[in-house]
Amino acid sequence: MSSTPPEPAIEWPVIDLPLPPPGTMGPPEQYGWLRRQCPLAQVRLPAGATAWYATRYEDVRDLIADPRLIRPTINDWPPRHDRAADDEPGLITMMELDGPRHAALRRALAEPFSVRSIRRRLPRLRRSADRLLDEFVAGGQPGDLVGGFLEPFPLLAMCELVGIPYEDREYFLPRADAALGAILTLDEGRQVTAQLRDYIASLLDRKRRERADDILTELVHACGRGSLDGESVVNFGLSMLVAGYRTSTMFLGDAVVALLTVPGQYARLRDDRGVMPGAVEELLRFIPVMNGVVVLQAVEDIELHGRRIRAGDAVLPVLASANRDERVFADADRLDLCRADNPHLTFGRGAHNCIGAHLARAQLTVGLQALLDRFPDLRVPDGHHPTWDDESPSKSPLTLPVSWCATDAA
Ligand code: HEM
Repeated sequence: MSSTPPEPAIEWPVIDLPLPPPGTMGPPEQYGWLRRQCPLAQVRLPAGATAWYATRYEDVRDLIADPRLIRPTINDWPPRHDRAADDEPGLITMMELDGPRHAALRRALAEPFSVRSIRRRLPRLRRSADRLLDEFVAGGQPGDLVGGFLEPFPLLAMCELVGIPYEDREYFLPRADAALGAILTLDEGRQVTAQLRDYIASLLDRKRRERADDILTELVHACGRGSLDGESVVNFGLSMLVAGYRTSTMFLGDAVVALLTVPGQYARLRDDRGVMPGAVEELLRFIPVMNGVVVLQAVEDIELHGRRIRAGDAVLPVLASANRDERVFADADRLDLCRADNPHLTFGRGAHNCIGAHLARAQLTVGLQALLDRFPDLRVPDGHHPTWDDESPSKSPLTLPVSWCATDAA
């Protein structure tokens, strides 16, 4: 470990939000110098607002669990000139809840999201993966693995566990993506938020009448017993639509790209499955999806690295940069499937840390195992490439053309 360099003597200008180089998953090239020279930078976001961008491991670890930073609703941040004082609160998910209601929800969810409970579901997860791969293979090769498997598998896994009908995806997916998108006008935002709330509320009505083995059914019955309030269950349902699958989909997509493009890594995992648990942790560290995805807002002034974060300012603790911090991870930019010491921050820390971490790990493990078993020779065929959305700060392939037989003919 090297000693901490002196604080920057100059006042750094506001920089544009660092983006991954075009045609790659990233990370942005600026991480290294920001960590060394300007660990708390001011960035301008695509929508125009500015935010603090914290890149060092120890800062990110502390900020994400700091009670002086809250999770704002999409109505509270970024600031909008067309916002009226009496606006309805935006989409309220579990992330924006705090205090006793948040604690009660976390208690109710601890068992269904526990390692033990997720482990029980592994055979079912594997059957879902195999079924999707049967359909994918039937389409012939080369095929697009993103549309055929990498997107639907984590979504199906979340839907089955939580009790959201997978068949409804064409209704809720575009609305959930729109609710998350920064380009929404306030009116559009209100509209999709209201539609998603109505969707979850009517689903909960059905769960009250029909018993099923899923988390939403358990939660509506916990409400009946008085241990939880109904609004919190709606907030949880909304969290699943916006946080319960997109990150997993992106991580699984990037994991397959990393394994196929870093020489020897796919074969390494195929030939030694004992490496899998550590390899999954290393992929979670290495994949830079969490590039300013978590947005916090200061409720009081905070001093850091000689700069003052003022109450109301937004702070982005950049988990993906912390995971590449050379002070903590030896040879941090290398994918090392056998890395021994790996305290990555991908699932956050503190009161709002990821409740779905064990499910996400299971999705990565089962998804990769199903691919390695079915396609020992998986590859991106010559002349084909993954495609990416180069405008986005957190990237995963939009399409990934793959072949799986010794010859590329179906
Ligand atoms: C690789 C996949 C995933 C990653 C990297 C990830 C990452 C994170 C992070 C960093 C947080 C903390 C955000 C904050 O501090 O404000 C979080 C919160 C959360 N995640 Fe995940 N997540 C993943 C998958 C999932 C899945 C599969 C689910 C559920 C099906 C899920 C549900 C949640 C929920 C409900 C919260 C909010 C918890 C709270 O506010 O108490 N996540 N996630």
